[in-house]
Amino acid sequence: MGDIRPNRFPPVGIDELRSLSARASDLMQRARNAALEPNHQKILRKWSISEVAELLGTNADTLARRLKKKPELPQGETDGRKRLFALDEIHTIQGDMGLLPHRDPATDAPVTMAICNFKGGVAKTTTSAHLGQYLALRGYRVLMIDLDAQASLTQLFGILPHLEVETTDTVLPYLEGPETAGADYRDSLASCIRKTHWHNLDLICSNLGLYGAEFALAGRAIQAPGFPFYRVLKDGIATVSAAYDVVVIDTAPALSFVNSNALFAADGLVLALPPAMLDLGSAAQFFELMAQLIDQTNTYESTPKVYDPFAILISKFKPNDEVHQTLSGWIRTHFEDHTLLSPMLESTVLQKVGPEILTAYEVANYEGDRRTFQRALQSLNDVNAELETAIRRRWPSKRPAERPLRAAAG
Ligand SMILES: Nc1ncnc2c1ncn2[C@@H]1O[C@H](COP(=O)(O)OP(=O)(O)OP(=O)(O)O)[C@@H](O)[C@H]1O
Ligand SMILES: [Mg+2]
Repeated sequence: MGDIRPNRFPPVGIDELRSLSARASDLMQRARNAALEPNHQKILRKWSISEVAELLGTNADTLARRLKKKPELPQGETDGRKRLFALDEIHTIQGDMGLLPHRDPATDAPVTMAICNFKGGVAKTTTSAHLGQYLALRGYRVLMIDLDAQASLTQLFGILPHLEVETTDTVLPYLEGPETAGADYRDSLASCIRKTHWHNLDLICSNLGLYGAEFALAGRAIQAPGFPFYRVLKDGIATVSAAYDVVVIDTAPALSFVNSNALFAADGLVLALPPAMLDLGSAAQFFELMAQLIDQTNTYESTPKVYDPFAILISKFKPNDEVHQTLSGWIRTHFEDHTLLSPMLESTVLQKVGPEILTAYEVANYEGDRRTFQRALQSLNDVNAELETAIRRRWPSKRPAERPLRAAAG
């Protein structure tokens, strides 16, 4: 028999909703604090000398010899067994070896990548976080923008959107414009950028208040007919992007004014697409609605919008699942050149991301099957390496020098 206590499921009105909201916020704070003892802040793992050597394309012995010869370089700290290096130290060594992959500001423009799909739960945030962190690990200067009022990306960085993010820390005032944001308005996004526990990876956070941007952008479009509501974010990113190589935008699962801004701000797009029937349906809608949006923006803009890269990522892929095999095969044949060769595997490693608030790149010692972890990590590395190549292709200074054709032997 069910629970018959008379006070079960009491009626819920406005006061109770407020109380539920406060309790949920408290619950989040407790969970975050429990996961991030003792400082309630994320602290990034360190990397062993062999991991650093692998990252820098050398071997541990050669690297150790180089460090010995140059005592001014970071020497790592020993935890008893291993010599460990922090990310900023890795970047210093990388710089000393002339291996920092920064773009050449004279020829290469910063690249903005947006991870999208109007459908929820397709791994947009997981993909964004891992792309940004992969690029930071490789030495690029990265800005991530959380453009979803659900603020999952913000939380992945260990930040509580309710309690630790002010409206002025989000893109809201910039999107609202001076008329609505008033004293909160700044003509640059610089003031909302915060450093993260990842060296050279900065973040613009989000919180629930970002929903307000929908009404504000709609209002601006109505009040000033012809106002390019879709390009506000792009202009905002241009105020800060000179300091970065890549800007990564995590978007909300919605067709909205804010997302139109993300789609217009993006130089490159990643469509996260799990190989499931309902997800294929939403991809069709995504392409259709994007075509409508870009058709509209092209009539206002002097240069038509072109995405480079435009990449479909088969996300949450289960290699042993027949439906996944069939559907991903179809996706590949239908969108051959647009689909990343590597899928993002469905993995318990990434399901664990939530409660422990760790991404795969933040895990130093995986408590579980090592092979499971390696498989997940490899799949993320493969996905991100393909995107890295596509991003670098946009930069003239990084293109392989074209060799003059040798005259055919006569
Ligand atoms: N490759 C994966 N393997 C297993 N679980 C995954 C994988 N990618 C994402 N997940 C899990 O699926 C859920 C949704 O992922 P995520 O938040 O990245 O999707 P999203 O598209 O950003 O969702 P939303 O539309 O709500 O913003 C999360 O619980 C995440 O941990
Ligand atoms: Mg998300």
